[in-house]
Amino acid sequence: QELQMNLEQIEKGGYDHFMMKEIYEQPSVIKDTYRGRLHSNEGLIKMAGIEDNLEKFTNAQRILIIACGTSWHAGLVAEYVFEEFTRIPVEVEYASEFRYRNPIINEKDVVIAISQSGETADTLAAIKLAKEKGAFVFGVCNVVGSSISRESHAGAYTHAGPEIGVASTKAFTTQITVLTMIALRLAQAKGTLSKSDFHRYLSELEAIPEKVEEALKTNEVAKEIASVYKDATNCLYLGRGYNFPVALEGALKLKEISYIHAEGYPAAEMKHGPIALIDEQMPVVVIAPKQGHYDKVVSNVQEIKSRSGKIIAIVTKGDEQVRNLADHVIEIPETSDALSPLLTTIPLQLLSYHIAVMRGCNVDQPRNLAKSVTVE
Ligand code: AGP
Repeated sequence: QELQMNLEQIEKGGYDHFMMKEIYEQPSVIKDTYRGRLHSNEGLIKMAGIEDNLEKFTNAQRILIIACGTSWHAGLVAEYVFEEFTRIPVEVEYASEFRYRNPIINEKDVVIAISQSGETADTLAAIKLAKEKGAFVFGVCNVVGSSISRESHAGAYTHAGPEIGVASTKAFTTQITVLTMIALRLAQAKGTLSKSDFHRYLSELEAIPEKVEEALKTNEVAKEIASVYKDATNCLYLGRGYNFPVALEGALKLKEISYIHAEGYPAAEMKHGPIALIDEQMPVVVIAPKQGHYDKVVSNVQEIKSRSGKIIAIVTKGDEQVRNLADHVIEIPETSDALSPLLTTIPLQLLSYHIAVMRGCNVDQPRNLAKSVTVE
């Protein structure tokens, strides 16, 4: 029993849960995702799976991203990144919806399947269907040799290492990292990004691991805030643009490990109904980095404040405006809008982790959940 306990502790790297270990592994595993691919000094991104199929991507009429859960959220971030950098239309599909809807797929479609486990039944079935209809399928998986990685025509691994916690954390950020590198490479090939912007993004990507390290230092603040809201029955997460998918992901994290009902919403959509939900019992997490539609998010925060909602704001270090409106602020380092999800998601992972622990939940194996949904 004692030995078993010690083995567990060694496996968890001294953390109380695998989820926390994996949250703190993100700076190093993002670097692993770059290894051999991101050469910012030479201004190069080299990914074999992309280079070997560059024409298919640059001539793609549409990119279809297919995934489930957190991987679907990474796909939504990728939609914004790909469309801004490459101007290729992107559609993001829940695999379970896609596969049962007799979807329209053309030969010039490129499908990107995102799956940490590479064994998700719905995603596997969806890409088999896409292949039958003639699409080229590119897999972004974390498990080498997994079914989805073998079923895809080509792919790129996230190299995040084993993710044991059922709630996905480092898989999410490394998925976004791989997808951003792909989008940048395609933008360079298509000439849809200026050389200077391309180089700027490469050096910004290079700086992300140390900025994630800095974002992890908000752990104590997140724990403090968690103690205030651990008994909430509902929670709203709001974001705009690149951070709208991060709002969805933050809500999923809270739901799946603390069992508190949470909902992510595009911040501007609140006035079309959901703002009626706001009262002093409703904590509202607002993702409000300097670089992303900041002024509009500030007015959304004011709308919530005037309805006495409790506001937890994720802001860029040094922010003053939102700080004066929010009940709590968590400061993260500045980066460009397109890369901000890699940083804004960190405090949301920490917040949901601490709330779940304070509620006595089984953080690594939440009730009714499996790490890989291999059944339909
Ligand atoms: C995320 O925290 C969940 N564990 C779940 O939504 C997961 O992302 C989804 O089941 C997809 O799994 P996959 O990435 O292994 O395909």
